[in-house]
Amino acid sequence: MAKTLFLILPHILYLITINVSFCTLTASSPPPYKALVSPITKDPTTSLYTIPIDNRRPSVVDLAGPLIWSLCAPDHPTVACGSKTCAAATEFRPPNCSSNTSRPPSDLYKPHCNCTAYPVNPVTGLCAPADLTLTTVTANATDGKNPKYSIAFSDFISSCSIKSLLQSLPASASGVVGLGRSELSLPQQLSAEAKYANKFALCLPGGGIGVAFFGSGPLYLLPPILSAISDNLQYTSLIKNPTNPGYYIDVEHIAIALKQVPLPPDALALDKRGNGGVALSTVKPYTALRSDIYEPFLKAYSAATTGIQRMPATEPFDLCFNSSGLASTRLGYGVPEIDVMLKGGKNWTVSGARFDAAGRARRTRLWRSSNGGARRGGAW
Ligand SMILES: *[C@@H]1O[C@H](CO)[C@@H](O)[C@H](O)[C@H]1NC(C)=O
Ligand SMILES: *[C@@H]1O[C@H](CO)[C@@H](O)[C@H](O)[C@H]1NC(C)=O
Ligand SMILES: *[C@@H]1O[C@H](CO)[C@@H](O)[C@H](O)[C@H]1NC(C)=O
Ligand SMILES: *[C@@H]1O[C@H](CO)[C@@H](O)[C@H](O)[C@H]1NC(C)=O
Ligand SMILES: *[C@@H]1O[C@H](CO)[C@@H](O)[C@H](O)[C@H]1NC(C)=O
Ligand SMILES: *[C@@H]1O[C@H](CO)[C@@H](O)[C@H](O)[C@H]1NC(C)=O
Repeated sequence: MAKTLFLILPHILYLITINVSFCTLTASSPPPYKALVSPITKDPTTSLYTIPIDNRRPSVVDLAGPLIWSLCAPDHPTVACGSKTCAAATEFRPPNCSSNTSRPPSDLYKPHCNCTAYPVNPVTGLCAPADLTLTTVTANATDGKNPKYSIAFSDFISSCSIKSLLQSLPASASGVVGLGRSELSLPQQLSAEAKYANKFALCLPGGGIGVAFFGSGPLYLLPPILSAISDNLQYTSLIKNPTNPGYYIDVEHIAIALKQVPLPPDALALDKRGNGGVALSTVKPYTALRSDIYEPFLKAYSAATTGIQRMPATEPFDLCFNSSGLASTRLGYGVPEIDVMLKGGKNWTVSGARFDAAGRARRTRLWRSSNGGARRGGAW
């Protein structure tokens, strides 16, 4: 059982996903254009985010994904199997993803031998071996304020996929764009092939349209944020997991209404072998917590909200409140704040604005449990 703690990433950039209208670009300045921009759409059915960057078709944004993959034509180009590129494509091959097109080792050095990649569906966890191929990445050049002109890069490395691998993704999606720390993720290829700075920013929308930037800033968003967005951000170090290309943050404690939740020692830590830790995710709806964290967390939140009328649990949530009885504040529902206490003394504070109201009874959903109960989460 993977000992990973997942936190949904309601916004990578603190501040900028609060209101979708912030995400529209404005004003202009002269070239050169050091960044690319692409719109992000949230699929209402799956809560997944897509960007139309792979051949202009929507692809699911997977922050921790190692590859770009999509359906491809029968006559697609292939990549040599003994190549460095092929080795990079198979670096994060899932141990349980096997190919029946196994080749004898000597075949590896024959020029006609084609590289097999192992794309993974980040929602179902399923994988399906397929050819490594080339795709065209399209986006708009931007000065950080306005989209300028469309650019297409025709030789980005991606994996083909069979249609059934798209199961549980938005109906419009033709694949996945991985943004992870791997040689063939989109940001790494933009940096290596097209010389953009190896940086990106995501403004994930609650609904409507968000925006993704690749390359260097400054980046600007519409009022009320007039300054470069980097001036309004809170920063924390990202840490690496040696076993996967995801982005982890160093969380020391979790507090509810200013009181630390009693957790087992090192419950939130990422160990040297890559177990545990707090990963950022664009594919987990809400937040998933390991049960040794979820149970004390739930107890503490319950204790901090004894005055609020309970509602019956609603799948997948365990603790629900009557939202009609909750005060409404500038930061959303008047509920105890959750401080995700980061190494270095900063907090990622989750306020009532992140809580979700559901159902005709307008129940405020707080906790989500996943099947089997091993991992559970809150609707942060
Ligand atoms: C490799 O791909 C090429 C097309 O790029 C195809 O003609 C060839 O048959 C493939 N080789 C194998 C061993 O499948
Ligand atoms: C791979 O093996 C499975 C069963 O083990 C079979 O159903 C499938 O058709 C095989 N795929 C290929 C490409 O041979
Ligand atoms: C591989 O393992 C993962 C994690 O245990 C699981 O979710 C997935 O379904 C497995 N994939 C296959 C093809 O069996
Ligand atoms: C570039 O921006 C224009 C204008 O906003 C838009 O119509 C076009 O679809 C964009 N192109 C890409 C590749 O995103
Ligand atoms: C972070 O949260 C903790 C627990 O709620 C609180 O005691 C502390 O003052 C906060 N720190 C900052 C810098 O806001
Ligand atoms: C929820 O709270 C409101 C206002 O406090 C109350 O009128 C309503 O009956 C409550 N709903 C339920 C189902 O208890």
